[in-house]
Amino acid sequence: MAKPKVIVTRRWPEQVEARLKECFDVELNTTDQPLSDAELKDAFARADAVFPTVTDAINAVVLSDERMRARFIGNFGVGFNHIDIESAQARNLVVTNTPEVLTDATADIAMTLLLCVARRIGEGERHLRAGQWTGWRPTHMLGTQVAGKTLGLIGLGRIGRATAVRAHHGFRMRVLFFDPFPSELDFVASIGAESRPTVEDVLRESDFVSIHCPATLENRHLINAQRLACMRPDAFLINTARGDIVEEAALVEALEAGRIAGAGLDVFEHEPHVSPGLLDRENVVLLPHLGSASVETRVAMGLRVIDNANAFFAGEEPPNRVV
Ligand code: 8YV
Repeated sequence: MAKPKVIVTRRWPEQVEARLKECFDVELNTTDQPLSDAELKDAFARADAVFPTVTDAINAVVLSDERMRARFIGNFGVGFNHIDIESAQARNLVVTNTPEVLTDATADIAMTLLLCVARRIGEGERHLRAGQWTGWRPTHMLGTQVAGKTLGLIGLGRIGRATAVRAHHGFRMRVLFFDPFPSELDFVASIGAESRPTVEDVLRESDFVSIHCPATLENRHLINAQRLACMRPDAFLINTARGDIVEEAALVEALEAGRIAGAGLDVFEHEPHVSPGLLDRENVVLLPHLGSASVETRVAMGLRVIDNANAFFAGEEPPNRVV
């Protein structure tokens, strides 16, 4: 039987691209340039499956093309807010994602940002590399202690829980959370995490707020000017989820006005654009969407997409089916 025709929209780690070649009649993107809308439409018209990433807007227009041949979207990533799920369903496309395999890597980045912004790591590096360091002194670049502080989590899913474990066991932090669909109550009890009924309650009580909710339509600008105003002036905001959960303009304003102490961001509202008001601030730490960027994790993500697609084309239920 002929292998399914698959189009992969970006470069993947070499070892996974080798596996793709074994499993499918695959078209790789050797230039790694994101596909245009027209190229995406064409991909869905020419292939049985398309494997996109967060940089591909699989929107209603792309999925409306009459020439649709594809039956499967294997998203490389856990978040799938760049895919119009209703349109995918309307075109009878099965969509899968890659949960679990990136949980640790992303929680590591959340803690990295938390530590870096608290202890002024980016600022210190820039200071030293610019040749401005004149030597040790007791009052130089004092930051905020992390151990024993309160971490507020917006969302207690897999990545939120992995962040909580690191904060609680590694840094003796008290963990608060808001989650409208709380689960894993044994886990909550095991680290003494405390549920709060509203986002505002978490914001008011936390030294660090870390966002771990999905980027649904309802969560767009969940952290807006009013909510930022609930945070304490000595508190820090960390975002490793999706940029548009935070109203970036409101965050810039809050930072400029000193309404919060700083922010650690791995994701932005209009990636790869970053608000200029963030770029020139010392009390923010900015990363280029590195949450899952470890070799081990990116390989595991790719293999997970392949497993899902193999199951689908074998007529089985893919393990990570979204719709
Ligand atoms: C990925 C992510 O790198 O999986 C996710 O949802 O945000 C990242 O870790 C990216 O989405 C790849 O498509």
